[in-house]
Amino acid sequence: MEKEQEDNVPDQLDRSRMFHSCCHHAIRSGLRLIAPCLALLLALSLLGTQLDAGSAVITDRYVKDRRALMQGQKAALTTLSDMVAGRTLFDARLAKAARRDLISSTGRIAKRFRKHRMEPNSHARPEIWTQWQDFGQRADTARLTAKQINSRSLAGLRRSLPAMMQACQSCHQSYRRYPNRAITH
Ligand code: HEC
Repeated sequence: MEKEQEDNVPDQLDRSRMFHSCCHHAIRSGLRLIAPCLALLLALSLLGTQLDAGSAVITDRYVKDRRALMQGQKAALTTLSDMVAGRTLFDARLAKAARRDLISSTGRIAKRFRKHRMEPNSHARPEIWTQWQDFGQRADTARLTAKQINSRSLAGLRRSLPAMMQACQSCHQSYRRYPNRAITH
């Protein structure tokens, strides 16, 4: 009996030593895994707050959709204004795609705003729905101006883009709260 116990002692010690070194190893390799995981989580949460800044405050689907439409217009317009300003090289293919984007998105403005939906963080003015006809006309004008964008050459773009910007801005001045001087937000 005593003998057996004595024999077990080194065995137990050995096992506990093994256990410790195993733990140690697990913790160390775990840490090696945890570090990149933490970095990833941090990056994701930072991205999350950035996305939240524009989207989480708006919950209504219609308000979200109409703002997404506007953001799309802003992106297309920026592509073109960057070329005109010389921030990017003129690219006829990209310019043509941006022009098409603007024609189709300005054509959807009236549809996106038809329902009278409001949220505290929306910048839409209630006059949109009391002066619906005028709002619709501004959207039509914007679509016509988008069609008149000349995307075939830089000179053409330079001549035709100001009218587009003006069309965006004039509607914002009447129907958007806190109108920005530059249409592109
Ligand atoms: C017929 C009116 C009208 C026209 C034309 C128009 N907008 Fe808007 N736009 C609005 C209104 C109203 C809002 C505010 C929407 C809201 O906050 O619910 C808005 C909001 C925006 C926003 C902010 C979106 C956000 O996420 O808060 C941008 C950017 C924008 N418009 C860009 C443009 C550009 C670029 C054009 C021209 C190609 C344009 N808009 C043409 C009415 C118009």
